[in-house]
Amino acid sequence: MNKITVLQGDYIGPEIMDAGLQVLAAATENENFSYKLTYAPFGGEAIDKVGVPLPEATIAECKKSDAVLLSAIGGPKWDDAPERPEKGLLKIRQALNLYANIRPTDISQAMQKYSPIKNCADVNFVIVRELTSGIYFGTPRETTAEYALDTMRYTPQEIERVSHVAFKMAQTRDHHVTLVDKSNVLDTSKLWRKIVKEVAVHYPDVKVDFCYVDAMSMKLISNPSQFDVILTENLFGDILSDEAAEITGSLGSIPSMSSGDGQVALYEPIHGSAPDIAGKGIANPFSMINSVKMMMKNSFNRADIAEKIETAVNAAVANGIVTPDLNGTSNTQTVTDYVINEMRK
Ligand code: IPM
Ligand code: MG
Repeated sequence: MNKITVLQGDYIGPEIMDAGLQVLAAATENENFSYKLTYAPFGGEAIDKVGVPLPEATIAECKKSDAVLLSAIGGPKWDDAPERPEKGLLKIRQALNLYANIRPTDISQAMQKYSPIKNCADVNFVIVRELTSGIYFGTPRETTAEYALDTMRYTPQEIERVSHVAFKMAQTRDHHVTLVDKSNVLDTSKLWRKIVKEVAVHYPDVKVDFCYVDAMSMKLISNPSQFDVILTENLFGDILSDEAAEITGSLGSIPSMSSGDGQVALYEPIHGSAPDIAGKGIANPFSMINSVKMMMKNSFNRADIAEKIETAVNAAVANGIVTPDLNGTSNTQTVTDYVINEMRK
């Protein structure tokens, strides 16, 4: 029995999680795939229930499972909480050692009409974002009357292990890795370049090149189809992955996978909890449905089921069965029902 821990999130979180789980149920019908869902409190929900965003029991539950499905967390309700929901997200990444975050941008033919950029044909790249170090976690970190301080810190080992993930991934794709850094200014970036060049030697079949982060923010708009695997540190990856998602037409479609050396990987949309539209039933469920798809392929080795989900999502997109963020008039449940019906055809 495959064990999936569900962290259902805040605001639109539970709405899209519900959509994702309906699709999971339908996609696995008669597929010889059995699973058990365990719900655990996380984020704002956990703050309300037990006072902290990531209870120990939730970490333990995640560690026992084969995969974790997480929806969006956070929101204004917890702005003044001693520990905000976002802190829980950072802690779970560390607790499960999820140092590699994979964020795909694939503008399918059906999606092209929604893209805000002209050169959107053949765009298919993934961002491999380092997720458990850098300025998000570096110390010292403090605020005094005179200044506030954050520290960007990387060790060679932290760079090396995520670089291997990127190069291995490139071997299954177009054999091209682009390291994004700011090595004309930052010491950490100089170290990234050095280590990535060393790692690249082990992958002679993969072409490697380098791009400054400011230039990359431009190229993602002007000519994104040139990229295959984009490897970068934590903060740059955070920023660039929102930009990358937006060129598909909506941040609301993009899933992500976070993994490390261990068994368990975590799947989540890359967007936030959208408090402004919560409760209206109009949140785009694609990011969560696509997260389920990514989970089936990567954690459960069921590329066949993943493909079934993908085909159904593409049909919904092609037929304009989309939510208002993509200028559609469908709501979350209508889109979900459509995807489910397509899979059952
Ligand atoms: C993301 C989010 C998080 C991050 C926030 C919510 C802490 O923006 O997953 O991209 O910055 O990593
Ligand atoms: Mg982000």
